Amino acid sequence: MTYVLGLDLGTSSIKGLLMDREGTIVAIESEEYPLYHPYPGYSEQDPSDWVKGAKGVIQKILEKFPETAESIEAISFSGQMHSLILLDAQDNVLRKAILWNDVRTTKQCKTIMERFGDKVLQINKNLALEGFTLPKMLWVQENEPEIWGKVASFLLPKDYLAFWLTGNKTMEYSDAAGTLLLDIKEKDWSREVLETFNVPATICPKLTTSTGFVGNIQEEVAKELGLKNTVPVFAGAADNAAAAVGAGIMTEDKAMASIGTSGVFLSYEENADKDFGGNLHYFNHAAENAYYIMGVTLAAGHSLTWFKNTFAEEDDYQTLLNGIDQVPVGSNGLLFTPYIVGERSPHIDSQVRGSFVGVDTSHTKKDFTRAVLEGVTFSLKDSQELLKEHANKTFETIVSVGGGAQNEEWLQIQADIFGAKVITLEIEQGPAMGAIMIAAVGAGWFPDLKSCAEVFVRYQKEILPKEENVKKYEQLYSIYREIYPATKELTHKLQQFR
Ligand code: XUL
Repeated sequence: MTYVLGLDLGTSSIKGLLMDREGTIVAIESEEYPLYHPYPGYSEQDPSDWVKGAKGVIQKILEKFPETAESIEAISFSGQMHSLILLDAQDNVLRKAILWNDVRTTKQCKTIMERFGDKVLQINKNLALEGFTLPKMLWVQENEPEIWGKVASFLLPKDYLAFWLTGNKTMEYSDAAGTLLLDIKEKDWSREVLETFNVPATICPKLTTSTGFVGNIQEEVAKELGLKNTVPVFAGAADNAAAAVGAGIMTEDKAMASIGTSGVFLSYEENADKDFGGNLHYFNHAAENAYYIMGVTLAAGHSLTWFKNTFAEEDDYQTLLNGIDQVPVGSNGLLFTPYIVGERSPHIDSQVRGSFVGVDTSHTKKDFTRAVLEGVTFSLKDSQELLKEHANKTFETIVSVGGGAQNEEWLQIQADIFGAKVITLEIEQGPAMGAIMIAAVGAGWFPDLKSCAEVFVRYQKEILPKEENVKKYEQLYSIYREIYPATKELTHKLQQFR
C-alpha cells in the first residue's frame, strides 16, 4: 500500500493526516505550540515551534505505522494565512512570526490605503487589513529597521515547513494572494506594489501552483524523521483554500462555513474580473485558474476556546456543550458578539471588543455557552449577507466544516441562522483534508483537484432549517446587528484602560 501525508499548520496546533490510496485515513496526529502576546493586539509564534510540531506529528505517525516509512509518496500542506516569517541571507529566522490575528498594523493599513489604496484594490482585489502580510512588513520597516535591513527572503507558515523539509523556498498562489503583494489575476508579484512600499523583489519566493513540486525531502531531514526514502513535497494551500478543496467547493452552487480559530463563509468564484470593492476577501483558489470570495470572523472557534478556558476550565468541550439543545433559541435573551480580538467582516475594526448583552440573574453557564455558539454563527451570517449584497450570491446548501461541524446542536443552529440546508462531510478534517488531497494529486493519484474531489469528497448528514427557529433567529439577528454600532465607541474607549 502507498500513502500520502497532509500537514495542516494551524494557529494552535499542527495536525498530520496519513491517507492510503483507497482514501482511508490511516493516522491522525497533532501537536500544540504556544502563541505569544507580548502586548495587547500582538500575536506571534516561533517558526521553530512549527518545525518541532511537524517533526513530532510525523514521528508519532511513523512510530504507530512503521510500515509506512518507506511508502509515503507525497507530502503537502495547508497553513494559517498571512503570517510573516523573515529570513536573513543565511536563512536564519530574524524575529518571531507576526501572525494573521495580530492587529498592531492599523497605522500601516491606513498608509497603504492613503498612498495606493485604489491600486492595491485593483491589483490585489483586497483592502489592506491588519492581518495581511504587507502591513506587517511596513511595521517592521518602521519599528525594527535593523531587522528589515537584514531581510533576504520572506515566507508564509506552511512554506517555511516546506523549506525546512526541502531547502527550497516557494509560495503558491492561494497564500501569496493574502500578502497584498500579488497581482491575483496575473498571478505574479506586483512590481508596482513592491516598488511603492520598498519591498525588494528579491525577497519574494518563487511562485507556483498548489500542486506544484517544491522539492524532495533533504536526506538528513528524512533520516531524522525516520523516513526511508526521499519523499516529494508539494506546495499546498492557504487553510481556507485547502478547506474549500476538502469540502468540494469547486463550483459556485454551494458555500462553506468553516469554524477553526477564525471562521469563514466562503464561495467559489470562476474569474478574477469581478469588483467587490474590497467588501469581500477575494483570493486565488487552490484549484488552478479559480478564485474564492469570503468574509472572515476573527474569533470563531477562538471565542469558544476563550470562553471555556476562562469560565469552564475544568470542562472538556463535550461537557461544556452537553445540554445546549435544552436552552431555547436566543439563549434566554442573551446575545454575544465575538469581537474579542477585533473584527474583519463586515466591520473592519481592530479596536472593537466583544459583549454579552442582556445578562440576567437567571442565566446559567449553558445559556452563555449557547450564546457564544449563536454569536459566532450570527457573525458568519454577516458574511453570508455580504456575499448576497456584493456578489449577488445566495445558497441553498452550505457545507459546514471544522469545529462547527462537530456538534449536532451547533449544526442545527447554523441551519436555522443561515436559513439554509447545512451538510457535513463523511471525512471531516477541515483544511488538513485539502492538504492531503493536494498531496494525492502531487503523487499522481489524480490528474487534478477536481477529479480528486469527485472521489474523496462525500457528504454525510443533511440538517434542515426549522421554520420556527428561522423566524426567531431572523428577529434576533436584527438585534445582533444593532450591537456593533451601539458598542463600537464604548469598547474603543475601554482600550485605553488595558
Ligand atoms: C483569512 C485569515 C484566517 C487565517 C486563519 O484571511 O486570516 O482565516 O487563514 O488561519
